[in-house]
Amino acid sequence: MLQVNKVSKIYEGKIAYRALSDIDLDIEQGEFVGIMGPSGSGKTTLLNIIATIDEPTTGTVLIEGANPYALNKNKLAQFRRRSLGFVFQDFNLLHTLTVKENIVLPLTLDGKRVKEMEEKAEAIAEKLGITSILNKRTYEISGGQAQRAAIARAMIHRPKLLLADEPTGNLDSKASKDVMGMLDALNEEEQTTMLLVTHDPQAASYCDRIIFIRDGKLYSEIHQGEHRQAFFQKIIDTLSLLGGDDNDFSSVRPE
Ligand SMILES: Nc1ncnc2c1ncn2[C@@H]1O[C@H](COP(=O)(O)OP(=O)(O)OP(=O)(O)O)[C@@H](O)[C@H]1O
Ligand SMILES: [Mg+2]
Repeated sequence: MLQVNKVSKIYEGKIAYRALSDIDLDIEQGEFVGIMGPSGSGKTTLLNIIATIDEPTTGTVLIEGANPYALNKNKLAQFRRRSLGFVFQDFNLLHTLTVKENIVLPLTLDGKRVKEMEEKAEAIAEKLGITSILNKRTYEISGGQAQRAAIARAMIHRPKLLLADEPTGNLDSKASKDVMGMLDALNEEEQTTMLLVTHDPQAASYCDRIIFIRDGKLYSEIHQGEHRQAFFQKIIDTLSLLGGDDNDFSSVRPE
């Protein structure tokens, strides 16, 4: 459902910087794919290019066979709103709104009827276990609840592709497990294709497949087998081969 062909990205500036080189990636409908790599390796750049936020310098991105970058500005905005879902590290909820108002936001923008929005919000909130906080303000809820609300907002219009950049980056390990478990369940139930950038091997172990990048190039790729625990170990081993800055992987490197 997603094809990235020979994508390169050069950030122009006083000194041009090549952030990605010749990235090829083919993702099937319903796959849950992780992207890992050292800080500065180009993960967010790649995600933003797929998210149609940042155009590649060369190469193409096809989502369901169509090139979103060929759309005009309005059509592109509509495509993003209807076909894609976004989850970020810092939740990006609007603080003047309640949890429920945040969740229905994508539907509001598409002019859906109130009753339909309410029903959809309640259904997705139920799945994510946040029914009891729907009327709360964003400052009255925990980080884990905030991220679940953000996932509900990203999923309410049943996007074809969910893109998440470090969704567990601000969560403790318990909340992180909850959030990953829920993404995993949504991936199963809704068959939403998911793409997750993460530094966290535990979070990454929920993926079907992980792509490692280093210095803007594909480094390797591993698949989840039968056991998540064995996959987790494989992720840690690959990360230590991959290297990177100490901050990223110190917690998982054997001493
Ligand atoms: N707008 C920009 N202009 C110039 N250079 C940029 C820009 N955005 C990113 N870069 C550079 O491109 C490289 C890749 O950045 P990117 O944000 O994709 O890394 P990342 O893998 O997401 O890192 P992290 O794990 O720290 O989030 C970095 O060297 C970064 O400094
Ligand atoms: Mg990043």
